[in-house]
Amino acid sequence: MNVLILGSGGREHALAWKILQSHHCSQLFVAPGNPGIASIANIVDMGVKDFEGIKSFCINSKIDVLVVGPEDPLVNGIYDFMEHAKTENDWKGFVVGPSKEAAQLEGSKAFSKKFMQRNGIPTAGYAEFTKDNFEEGKIYIAKHSLPIVLKADGLAAGKGVVISETHEDALQVFEEMIIHQQFGKASSKVVIEEFLKGIEVSVFVLTNGVDYAILGHAKDYKRIGEGDTGLNTGGMGCVTPVPFMDEDFMQKVEANIIAPTVNGLAKEGLIYNGFIFFGLMNVEGDPQVIEYNCRMGDPETEVVLPRLETDLLSLFAAMDNGTLADANINFSDGHFATVVAVSGGYPGDYKKNRPITGLNNQLPSSSLVFQAGTKQDGEAIVTNGGRVLTVTSKGNSMQEAVQQSLAILKDLHFEGINFRNDIGYEFK
Ligand code: AMP
Ligand code: GLY
Repeated sequence: MNVLILGSGGREHALAWKILQSHHCSQLFVAPGNPGIASIANIVDMGVKDFEGIKSFCINSKIDVLVVGPEDPLVNGIYDFMEHAKTENDWKGFVVGPSKEAAQLEGSKAFSKKFMQRNGIPTAGYAEFTKDNFEEGKIYIAKHSLPIVLKADGLAAGKGVVISETHEDALQVFEEMIIHQQFGKASSKVVIEEFLKGIEVSVFVLTNGVDYAILGHAKDYKRIGEGDTGLNTGGMGCVTPVPFMDEDFMQKVEANIIAPTVNGLAKEGLIYNGFIFFGLMNVEGDPQVIEYNCRMGDPETEVVLPRLETDLLSLFAAMDNGTLADANINFSDGHFATVVAVSGGYPGDYKKNRPITGLNNQLPSSSLVFQAGTKQDGEAIVTNGGRVLTVTSKGNSMQEAVQQSLAILKDLHFEGINFRNDIGYEFK
């Protein structure tokens, strides 16, 4: 099979690395990719929003599988666009990703909350507001227990969720979002919900909207500072497996969350052929949904795929031909951790174009370096984003894996490099 992956981060580097292990993979292309991905796959100079370009490339290069990494093209309808291309031209491949309508599970918080409510899926209680019922919203906030969670309805690059500790702060955030359009159209609607106290964990599923396969789970460390302090980031590191994700807990996740979600998709006629990322909170042993994403997580993918022993391309084919329920999913026995190296200042302002050294160092066979915000500058690879690279290791224990990634990071360098030394700290 010929495969095109869309995206340019650590997630896509890990997807490329995994797909290349499949003996079903003939040619692998990644658009737009990064220098790390360029060292293992063919790079196509094309943006993830260039639907016309993607369509032409898929037809001309006889792409069988189009794997969409980030949410933006999915929420903007790449699935539907390519399905249409199938009827007009002779593209015979398939997309790994949901339809535009189903991608609203990530693209609209209000859509996903209503979906969960209709399908009896455990999630925090909520209400939604626009400028039309702004005054009602103020009263709702004044009566709400603390802390209060406010969410911009639409995509806001991971910045649209605010947890307010006081009513005054919540009112201010509410006004910023709705009246001052802090996130543009994305915050013209705001979801206000109960705060769930617990430990967050993510579960990853591949589904065709009827059957599903569980690809794994991970715990992400979102805050910039050690001990989970400071600002939220896209993710500073991940571990898998997570100690409390035992059979009992996973059975609850499957029975109360995954199965009702997939059944809900089928019942409501939502077309879905792709990944579902369940963002969960373990509330005293019971999982509740914080959010759905219609893609894999980053950096979760960088531990989930190394742990997954099953051939991913075969799973994509099984998703497409309706045999996913029969797929055998195997996991490695080891413990996996990834530690993300970020640019100094991230998630605020940071410098780019800092040369990275150490990328050619020999790695132990149990470690991988995935590149994210990097670019080629002549002979050098330089920083090109907040999250620059991530080091994944496999160990006999979670701490062994973390320590090995940290040891490798000692020999990787760029000016201003920052990473957390405490990934997995609460499980020590
Ligand atoms: P989201 O974009 O919905 O994933 O929210 C971003 C982050 O905010 C989540 O990863 C959680 O850490 C936190 N969060 C969101 N909703 C809640 C909630 N209802 N209770 C507690 N924390 C939440
Ligand atoms: N690491 C969180 C995400 O991918 O959304």
